[in-house]
Amino acid sequence: MTQRILSPEAPVALVTGAASPLGSAISRKLAQEGFWLALHYGKSKAKTLRLQKEMVSTSIETFLVKADLSRPRQVHSIVDQTVGQWGRLDLLVNNAGLFAPTPFLHTDWIAWTRLWNVNSVSPFALAVAAKPPLKETHGSIVNITDIYGELPILKDHAAYSASKAALIFLTKFLAEEFAPEIRVNAVSPGVISFPEEYGAPEKKKLIQRTALKRQGTPEEIADAVWFLSSNRFITGQVLKMDGGRFVY
Ligand SMILES: NC(=O)c1ccc[n+]([C@@H]2O[C@H](COP(=O)([O-])OP(=O)(O)OC[C@H]3O[C@@H](n4cnc5c(N)ncnc54)[C@H](OP(=O)(O)O)[C@@H]3O)[C@@H](O)[C@H]2O)c1
Repeated sequence: MTQRILSPEAPVALVTGAASPLGSAISRKLAQEGFWLALHYGKSKAKTLRLQKEMVSTSIETFLVKADLSRPRQVHSIVDQTVGQWGRLDLLVNNAGLFAPTPFLHTDWIAWTRLWNVNSVSPFALAVAAKPPLKETHGSIVNITDIYGELPILKDHAAYSASKAALIFLTKFLAEEFAPEIRVNAVSPGVISFPEEYGAPEKKKLIQRTALKRQGTPEEIADAVWFLSSNRFITGQVLKMDGGRFVY
């Protein structure tokens, strides 16, 4: 086990999907704020190692944890490994997510189950596994949801949208259940990055729908994660960050 010599009071965060665009911005922000980091990955080991390498010259300690989030029964091991490594956990960021179409006329139940497991069941299982160590540190959980979890408007993405809606519901449910020691909040991003298959006209159309006429940045989402995790009087909230696409 690592001796906590460099920074005995350093808080520890576990970030899932750490090498994704949002996950890496969140990890960098938390490192800047002094967190030691357990960087989770599923398939992207090389990318996650690159992110870890960036932090080598800082006083931040990091290590990698691997888990397939489509298998919720196994995910508690990454919480166990994190606490086993450093003896504490202060923040769980459920950032990993799976975005994939599920057309109504070709319902593929295996695809549905995978989406639900990655986007809502595993974040819930991780929250449950993280409850005892978070209770000790009076820590918090931040879930990354999606504005499409709030409105049924994304064609052919019923499973994705419903799984994010479930994560929004679970955020509020867990906030009640885990209080008063643990706070649970969520960030609900709009357009931050685009799926590879989106062309210029599709991107422009989505940007035009926002009041601010631009897409957001991963760093803006990371700032919000930091804000929600550090403000000790906020729980059960879902912060919509969509550039004013839905002002309601
Ligand atoms: N980007 C946006 O504009 C946007 C908008 C709204 C909401 N969001 C939400 O923000 C979060 C991050 O999005 P992103 O665009 O930065 O990420 P992304 O490029 O979609 O990457 C998804 C991440 O989730 C992990 N993941 C997916 N399936 C997994 C599995 N079965 N087991 C383990 N890990 C798995 C991947 O890890 P590996 O590659 O290591 O497998 C990857 O790090 C997601 O929850 C997404 O729904 C994003």
